[in-house]
Amino acid sequence: MNIEETLKKNNQTHILDALNALSGAEHEKLKAQIEQVDWDEISKLIQEYVLRKPVTEIPADLSPAPYFPLEPKDAEQAEFYRKAFDRGVELIRSGKTAALTVAGGQGTRLGFDGPKGTYPITPVLHKTLFQYFAESLARVCEKYNTTIHWFIMTSELNDKATRDFFAAHNCFGLKPETIHFFTQGFMPAIDYSGKVLMSAKDSIALTPDGHGGTLLALRKSGCLDLMKKLGVKYISYFQVDNPLVPVSNPLMLGLHDLEHSEMSSIMLSKTNAHEKLGNFCVTGGRLQIIEYSDMPDELAERTTNGKLDFIAGSPAIHVISVDFIERLTNGGRLDLPWHRADKKVAHINERGETVKPDAPNAVKLECFIFDALPLATRTIILEADRKECFAPTKNATGVDSAESCREMLCARDARRMELAGITIPRKADGSPDCIVELSPRKVFDDEDAIAFFKSNPAKSPERRSSTAYG
Ligand code: UTP
Repeated sequence: MNIEETLKKNNQTHILDALNALSGAEHEKLKAQIEQVDWDEISKLIQEYVLRKPVTEIPADLSPAPYFPLEPKDAEQAEFYRKAFDRGVELIRSGKTAALTVAGGQGTRLGFDGPKGTYPITPVLHKTLFQYFAESLARVCEKYNTTIHWFIMTSELNDKATRDFFAAHNCFGLKPETIHFFTQGFMPAIDYSGKVLMSAKDSIALTPDGHGGTLLALRKSGCLDLMKKLGVKYISYFQVDNPLVPVSNPLMLGLHDLEHSEMSSIMLSKTNAHEKLGNFCVTGGRLQIIEYSDMPDELAERTTNGKLDFIAGSPAIHVISVDFIERLTNGGRLDLPWHRADKKVAHINERGETVKPDAPNAVKLECFIFDALPLATRTIILEADRKECFAPTKNATGVDSAESCREMLCARDARRMELAGITIPRKADGSPDCIVELSPRKVFDDEDAIAFFKSNPAKSPERRSSTAYG
């Protein structure tokens, strides 16, 4: 079927009109975009997700997911954790692990003009998120005398800016051949009447297809083949907006391996029943994450002995087996469920005028990485200390903001300095009364902090001072 018939059949004739009004390079650009979209599929999704609001079915047998606790429950488990940690270190040392950062999002809530990874995040030196991860990876490689390849997912909207940023900063000292960018898929934004929006007269309003797009994008880009060629078995997956995450977690990698897990997750104990974290649940013997917005109050609030039943929240930190991705994407397809997000999408109207809406006007369809969990034959969950791994930078100020992230980075580094024997002046509420920043290039974990200050003795920071170390 040709373009004209396809667009007519799928009720998107305004795009055909836009195409017919163009010539030369503009015409070719829009034509190429139109050809990349699966219009029959889009029509189905419009019926299912745009013209009606899908209701998430909550399975009747939903139960809380089991997890490995932060503190081992007995001596036997403590021994198992030690074994798993050693196994993790062995995997890292032997080059069997890679890091994967999803950085294709639009970061609309942060309101920052540029890829989120280029946002200055550290409290003293204002290092960017990408620099922070790069230095941290460099330190892990040095510590374990290994190479960890870093895969970074971008979207068409920020791919060039991201690559240029790395090039302009000499890859922050990492070997360029160990950094691999790949671009995720996209979906057109759709208005509430079911029409695909145009962002310019020669362009459809395209939005990245969600972090669930990672798996297929890894295959389509050739990165999955590259991982296999490099001998990578396991991927440490994390989000670009969380600089507190350990870029490599030996205990988690070791447990993943010893338990023959295909996809593993970090869990945090939720601070309250309605904290905005996905809930780890089990249904039909499979692990599944139910979004906080879909969780019925009655289940979210249920307690046993004063503790939330569904205590396990997801900070979006995973270990994923390369073989699992290979299996899931075999045949070049992966049908993860779609999720509807109502967004303000700037577009041009039928008169060619730019419209910047004040209220949501369109639906963005996204897949989520955690929807791969029920497809795994084996999964494990490991509890972690939120203070050591989760400081999301979603907003400019307030909850989950750049501000709160900086405070958490400072608090973690202050704790590490205390472990190294340096007194930290504290306020009445216990928070540091100074700003400190340890270089991730020198300090990856507590052990590093102790060793660093042993060879670089430092005085206790002054109250209200601001100091970077390393
Ligand atoms: P968020 O869900 O916070 O979305 O992404 P976002 O696009 O960054 O921010 P908002 O909602 O517009 O404010 C969580 C992580 O998943 C990545 C993001 O880059 C971030 O690391 N992500 C999200 C992608 O890589 N691709 C996507 O399509 C969506």
